[in-house]
Amino acid sequence: MSTPTRRKFLRQLGGTAALFTGSTMGALALDEGKIHYLQPEKKHLSNDKIRVAGIGMGIMGFGDMHAALKVPGVEIAGVCDLYTGHLERAKEIWGKDLYTTRDFRELLQRPDIDAVIVATPDHWHDHISIAAMKAGKHVYCEKPMVQHLDEGHAVIKTQKETGKVLIVGSQGVSSITLAEAKKRIKAGDIGEINLVEAVNDRFSSVGAWQYAIPLDASLETVDWDTFLGDAPKLPFDATRFFRWRNYRDYGTGVAGDLFIHLISAVHHALDSYGPSRIFASGQLSFWNDGRDVPDVLAAVMDYPKTEQHNAFQMMLRVNFADGSGGSNRTRIVGSEGVIEWGGNRFTLKKQKLPKAPELGGYDSYLHFSAQQKSEYVKWYNEKFSKEDRKPFPPEEVKYAAPAGYDERVDHFANFFQAIRSGGTVVEDASFGLRAAGPALASNLSYEKRKVVNWDPVAMKLLK
Ligand SMILES: NC(=O)c1ccc[n+]([C@@H]2O[C@H](COP(=O)([O-])OP(=O)(O)OC[C@H]3O[C@@H](n4cnc5c(N)ncnc54)[C@H](O)[C@@H]3O)[C@@H](O)[C@H]2O)c1
Repeated sequence: MSTPTRRKFLRQLGGTAALFTGSTMGALALDEGKIHYLQPEKKHLSNDKIRVAGIGMGIMGFGDMHAALKVPGVEIAGVCDLYTGHLERAKEIWGKDLYTTRDFRELLQRPDIDAVIVATPDHWHDHISIAAMKAGKHVYCEKPMVQHLDEGHAVIKTQKETGKVLIVGSQGVSSITLAEAKKRIKAGDIGEINLVEAVNDRFSSVGAWQYAIPLDASLETVDWDTFLGDAPKLPFDATRFFRWRNYRDYGTGVAGDLFIHLISAVHHALDSYGPSRIFASGQLSFWNDGRDVPDVLAAVMDYPKTEQHNAFQMMLRVNFADGSGGSNRTRIVGSEGVIEWGGNRFTLKKQKLPKAPELGGYDSYLHFSAQQKSEYVKWYNEKFSKEDRKPFPPEEVKYAAPAGYDERVDHFANFFQAIRSGGTVVEDASFGLRAAGPALASNLSYEKRKVVNWDPVAMKLLK
């Protein structure tokens, strides 16, 4: 039975925000009067069949495929991977008749495949995405879209020439909570943005990319030569293959891997093209396991004023040995409040300075002579009305997605909808390069120990 507070809250919601009722309430109803549960939109209308194949079936390849198959009308058409164990696992899940191969070029020749998910290590993203679009396939490419800055324009060009749909896989941009945060920012709820702080700190070995290496890893079970691709030739090394993120030859460090999610979310929320100056600094502090990328990295980025937003500063940080336990959050700070977003929920805090300056407190006024004090108070009272002096009490509202909500499914829905309707996607190739740009420039800044200048409109490094 609804209490009066709860009924009032339900009435207040209206519009797209609606209370999520049922068993999930227990999990999220921390403060019933102040949490707005957002309702996922129903957007999967068409049932035209789309056949999708996975290229790169590791942690994310399986996760992405499971999410893609939740969109109505989507079928699995096959998988490609360089490790036999992952192909066997795919057959265990999707049946022994599933088409599997180690050769993505062979997979791309198959006419019964409409779209591919590219979830390989980063150094393969551009090669496979370009080959797939040229072979007539739509592409869901995991982030970062490219491993190196100079690879981005070729992906954009191929997408334009082939007319195929390409979406980049920073799925947070499709989250209903980010959509609501964006709406609140556009409505001016937190004033003019001046600072963004985002961190992804971790406290676990898997979080620090020390993944399990299967005991059967060998040159029989792994196609090592293909894995290397355009990276330097080296003898077989199972650690490099299964923990590729830890090496610059195949990955993009914490910036390309994790900053990119934070940057993508902020670009989407603010309709931003990106920063013009990037500086990053860091070190390898704790995970001395042979990796050649830092495990602590911080970056400062200057976003210039545009039609979409005021000038603001973005501060990003990853710490893989965060003894406080880890944290993943983004704070978008404005002159009249803050949005703290993370984990498919956010808190909106609003407060505003009164028009009149403070009187008293830790101020030079304290040390005025008695006469000066009384004259000053008289002047103050004449100059500022009661209204001018009225404080605006802080307000706090929480928004959350219902339990079980999966932004990745919404991201795939966006991809498949664009394929079906010939429409656009939320994270196209230009968005992908504009997000990858500052992330990869952070690596450059860290390596060269200098500020990197970036043209966010033309998507080019500047001298
Ligand atoms: N969007 C996200 O939240 C998210 C999360 C994790 C990873 N990712 C991205 O997904 C990608 C994969 O990461 P992961 O954690 O799944 O790595 P992983 O090592 O678990 O999987 C990569 C797989 O790709 C296969 N592979 C390598 N080269 C290949 C090639 N040329 N052809 C076919 N298969 C190939 C490997 O055999 C491996 O199974 C990365 O780009 C990563 O940044 C995204």
